[in-house]
Amino acid sequence: MLRQKISDKMRGILQIYGTSKIKQRLWDDDFTHGRWERIDKTPGDCIYPRIEKAANGGSILDLGCGSGNTANELAVDVYRDYTGVDISSAAIAKAQKRTEANCRAHKTSFLQSDIDNYVPDRQFDVILFRESIYYIRRAKIQAILERYSEWLTPEGVFIVKIWHGRKKGKGIVDIIKNRFEVIEEYWPEQTESVLLVFRGNAHRAAVALGVSPQVQIESGASVQ
Ligand SMILES: C[S@@+](CC[C@H](N)C(=O)[O-])C[C@H]1O[C@@H](n2cnc3c(N)ncnc32)[C@H](O)[C@@H]1O
Repeated sequence: MLRQKISDKMRGILQIYGTSKIKQRLWDDDFTHGRWERIDKTPGDCIYPRIEKAANGGSILDLGCGSGNTANELAVDVYRDYTGVDISSAAIAKAQKRTEANCRAHKTSFLQSDIDNYVPDRQFDVILFRESIYYIRRAKIQAILERYSEWLTPEGVFIVKIWHGRKKGKGIVDIIKNRFEVIEEYWPEQTESVLLVFRGNAHRAAVALGVSPQVQIESGASVQ
């Protein structure tokens, strides 16, 4: 029992602080052995109406996309294209298979990469970290969000969903709230999650230059 606890703890530490190769091996092992099957089916998750509203017919980048729930459970007609990035090739293989079976391959692409190093080739209307941001070193989260801000369209938004159990996500929520313009903070009842929708730095720069973003999500809007 104690051995298992220590091994789980070590695993958790390496999934955050290991090299990309080590992280990939651990996540591949998780997905190959079905440890994340519980996230395969999440229809009705409170994140979907928010993504659908923010995407507004545009493009979505899903960082730490897992085995394809978001790519396949989002309403199909609310976005133009979806790109999923994950460190685990096993998760990506599963996601790709599911997407093909679901006839969404023409508007979906997946890439194996570490969020730390991935460099997008264009801007997106939504950049999503769904239950994946805590696998980034805490000290790097602000810098990573600032870097990805450059890949948001001026009116684009980040959407972050964090499991908040045992106060695990508190520091991350503070980083986001202190550094970025949060336009929606949603605490679903009966869960230990929080969902934040916020602007990147590109939006600030556009506003500072007097360029008015064309599409605005109402401040404080709460989509049910
Ligand atoms: C808890 S799962 C969440 C999956 C999916 N976003 C969801 O909400 O169902 C975390 C995902 O993040 C991925 N991940 C963890 N660290 C990563 C990293 N450094 N770069 C890319 N993906 C990473 C894992 O492989 C896994 O698929």
